[in-house]
Amino acid sequence: MAPVEDTAGAGIVAIGAYAPQHRMHNDEWAQYVDTSDVWIYPRTGIKTRHIAAAGESTAMVAARAGSLCLEAAGMDPADLRWVLVSTDTPEMWNPATACFVQAELGARRAVALDLTGGCSGFVAGLGLAEARARLREPVLLIGCEVLSQAMDWSDRSTAVLFGDGAGAALVMPREPGKPAFEIVNIYARTDGRDAGILGKPYGGTKNPLTPELVRDGHHHRIVMHGPYVFKNAVTKMADAALSSLEEAGLTLSDVDLVVPHQANQRIIDAVADRLKIPREKVFSNVEEYANTGSASIGIALAEAIEAGLIRPGQVVLTVAFGSGFSWAASVWRAAGVPPVRAELNRGAVLTKGVGT
Ligand code: ACO
Repeated sequence: MAPVEDTAGAGIVAIGAYAPQHRMHNDEWAQYVDTSDVWIYPRTGIKTRHIAAAGESTAMVAARAGSLCLEAAGMDPADLRWVLVSTDTPEMWNPATACFVQAELGARRAVALDLTGGCSGFVAGLGLAEARARLREPVLLIGCEVLSQAMDWSDRSTAVLFGDGAGAALVMPREPGKPAFEIVNIYARTDGRDAGILGKPYGGTKNPLTPELVRDGHHHRIVMHGPYVFKNAVTKMADAALSSLEEAGLTLSDVDLVVPHQANQRIIDAVADRLKIPREKVFSNVEEYANTGSASIGIALAEAIEAGLIRPGQVVLTVAFGSGFSWAASVWRAAGVPPVRAELNRGAVLTKGVGT
């Protein structure tokens, strides 16, 4: 590792994002379960989600976003010191998904590690990335999920909520004159007492797979207490936002754009209401991508920048909540706007029959 030398701080110097080409509309879910656009859209704000193609694994999706991010930065992958992949849908039990991503990128000097932090893993992981970047160690942080491979396609109460994709951020020591989101504060918390409320309990060492469990479809079962998750997502995202701002010495009136985890539109709206933030200051693309877990903030960020919604000097607040329960917020100051490369396939033709 490089000699320990604290710098003035660290920032996000480039963003990459990728969503698979297959787009699936709510209507198509009726082929699999008893549901409809009329049920899904008003409760979630979701219309479509992108679904990985057969054989398109988490490492492939993550590497695509990572590669786009490095291209945007003009960075040689060999100069990376860390590849961190935040995912709840890993390539396999072992080794870490990040190892496959590191090999694919050619980041041969980087340490490769996974973070399993639920939907807030990307923001919490930013805290780790920022700490290493301060020591002059460039970090590629990728949030990636291929939830279509992990969820139960016969469970309408969870499956319709999710989508696949990846967002990546290159985190480096700040350099004067180079566009970056200066990371002003990161606030992250976990309350493991609610670990059983939301997650995928089968297939690990606590509940190993048996032929009976697989026969009954439990290997894909996602446990989720929807209303309890909803309530906690709203209160904890609002608390994290306020706590991060307070630690940064700022208030809500200083914030120009909020980029929240894209779980569902009702959660986003309820957080905005609780914080009394006008809707035009809150970015949303959940209608297009559904809930992409730890990928959602990177994808949202890429689209917000491409839409010109973040300008130099502005303050950006990101906030997320997920299984654990874990929640996190981060405050950034736009010292210029970092470059973005995104391959999000927004205009892709809607597909039929892509289910597993
Ligand atoms: N289509 C049709 N009916 C459905 C579907 C579906 N896809 N899913 C559930 N239902 C049924 C249920 O079986 C239930 O029927 P019942 O009353 O006969 O038992 C009924 O709909 C429940 O309906 P509502 O009470 O209107 O549902 P609610 O308003 O609670 O909304 C939702 C459900 C959208 C899941 C909500 O609880 C929610 O958003 N929770 C947060 C969950 C979340 O975002 N999880 C993602 C992971 S965590 C994160 O990222 C923050």
